[in-house]
Amino acid sequence: MSNISSELIPQEKREILKNQMFQERFQSIRQKTESICQPLEIEDYVVQPIADVSPPKWHLGHTTWFFETMILVPHFPGYAVFDANYNFIFNSYYESVGARVIRTDRGNLSRPSVQNVYHYRKYVDEAMQIFLQTEVPSELAPLLELGLLHEQQHPELLLTDIKYILGNNPLFPPYQNEAEIATTPVSASKWIAMDEGVYEIGFQGDEFCFDNELNRHKVYLNAYQIASELVTNQEYLEFMKDGGYENFRHWHSEAWDWVQKNQSKAPMYWYYIENQWFNYTLNGLQLVDLNAPVTHINFYEAFAFASWSGKRLPTEAEWEVAQGQFDWGSRWEWTQSAYLPYPGFTKADDATGEYNGKFMVNQMVLRGASVATAENHSRPTYRNFFQTNLQWQFTGIRLAQ
Ligand SMILES: [Fe+2]
Repeated sequence: MSNISSELIPQEKREILKNQMFQERFQSIRQKTESICQPLEIEDYVVQPIADVSPPKWHLGHTTWFFETMILVPHFPGYAVFDANYNFIFNSYYESVGARVIRTDRGNLSRPSVQNVYHYRKYVDEAMQIFLQTEVPSELAPLLELGLLHEQQHPELLLTDIKYILGNNPLFPPYQNEAEIATTPVSASKWIAMDEGVYEIGFQGDEFCFDNELNRHKVYLNAYQIASELVTNQEYLEFMKDGGYENFRHWHSEAWDWVQKNQSKAPMYWYYIENQWFNYTLNGLQLVDLNAPVTHINFYEAFAFASWSGKRLPTEAEWEVAQGQFDWGSRWEWTQSAYLPYPGFTKADDATGEYNGKFMVNQMVLRGASVATAENHSRPTYRNFFQTNLQWQFTGIRLAQ
């Protein structure tokens, strides 16, 4: 259809085409989530080793619950919920849709069974397919889009949660995934010089973006330089060998408490075995690849490394303004910007207003994307955010000065 101008298609038919596109995307995105679970054993679906890591079974149910609760229940007359109790189990953090199971208890649920969760998915998938064949009001398009984007965000969390579950099992079972094989080694970094001036950041255009990418606004930047490459394992190892984890001078106060409390000595998944550093990858325990970008470091570690090297992390504005001049996309890159609303930020009145805005406290912004990120979640204005102590995502370090 791409060579037919959309103006030549009557409005009515355009709606049908749009719905067909939604249907196709819906199917493939839902399928992708399930394919990530395919290599798992049934026991792997239920484990929650730490509060931040949700069991794969929960991800499968929660993404399904999102479509059921946000779209089918309010907008598909006659839809009967699969199980009224599931709202309590699979609601993540939406206060506006009722009580929910405590997050840390997600791994204590032996029921619903994995099989029932797959039944739930099938039930909701079928209802969604029927719903998308009806005349869906065009005002619902942004909500449908949000449902799809939400389902696309979860595979990244799902994959990193699976990595945590398997990577903290003493048997280090390999998962087998291309994500980490495809990592290209980092070459020698150069400094990219940026002029001082007034720049604009934030999303611009007619396509979908998240509320936290708005509004586009002006920022003033002093002249700065940003590294063309991410910090490598080799460079990070030099920091470790130089006593980086033993010198309080490089760390924030709460970061130093974290180092002491956890006896931290290396990035997550690194193990020192017979005088060599190994790390757990999705393909099993392997010797640390010195040329690959360092990953699974939290904000504390990224900041400490930058401090040790006499440099700093870029701000999110510096990153966004310079991003056309370097490659990115293999690691989420920590910035030194707190996750805050842009000027004129507004959020929706309904439950979707809880998607981003309420997390704008005590978290830092990450820019870029990672090897586990869905393709259309990689745009220069995309703002990811995590708490400063979290390491389980595919994070990385790019320096500035
Ligand atoms: Fe979610």
